[in-house]
Amino acid sequence: MTDIHCHILPGVDDGSGALSDSLEMARIAAASGISSIVATPHCNIPGLCKNYRSEKLISNFNELHDALERNLIPVDLYYGQEVFFTDDFEKHFEHGDFLTLNGSRYMLVELDFEISEEEAIKSINRVASTGVVPVAAHPERYGFIVERPDRAVQLCRAGALLQLNRSSIVGEFGQRIYSAAKYILDNGLADAVASDAHSQYSRIPDFSDVHEAICENWSYDYADILLKINPTKIIKNETV
Ligand SMILES: [Fe+2]
Repeated sequence: MTDIHCHILPGVDDGSGALSDSLEMARIAAASGISSIVATPHCNIPGLCKNYRSEKLISNFNELHDALERNLIPVDLYYGQEVFFTDDFEKHFEHGDFLTLNGSRYMLVELDFEISEEEAIKSINRVASTGVVPVAAHPERYGFIVERPDRAVQLCRAGALLQLNRSSIVGEFGQRIYSAAKYILDNGLADAVASDAHSQYSRIPDFSDVHEAICENWSYDYADILLKINPTKIIKNETV
């Protein structure tokens, strides 16, 4: 299986704090059947995380990549970012500050949790008009969708793929977020499920429980599409 959203890069955001934590996260992932992880540090969050494309970021990535090999952890690591949408998105995009998922046409995009439906649609439209395909990170957590989950379809119409979080589906974020995720899954609007893991202790990169939950409540085929087929297409730059 392939995890396209994981804060496994050490010391760059609120995810892994050190290389040893990253290795532990990768061991958990491998044990649950994940063979590929895209490292997606927070990027472009005003006042908090920049993490724009830089030599330092790439060398941090290479260091983790080599450490996984040295420690014989059977996980392939790919680079990416979780790009927070801001009003100067196009400026940073043109400047080459952003990384897509493994250099593909797909970019993991995070919106403000309190964004309005109208602004969310505009933001997705703006990302899509640069030529990349926005993969909306955890839409089930945005306030306007929690309030009325049927609004999720508007993000799809604006050109986004929808990536749900493992934690939302296994109920770790509470009933309301679970209900929003359930609506998106019930209506076949989800394109991928990812861990959005931040550590080896909570919000972990473990697909075993979410795989089981999707198999039990939806279907085995749907679990396969969301955890394996589509995420793998994304990192191979194939059409989802
Ligand atoms: Fe994230």
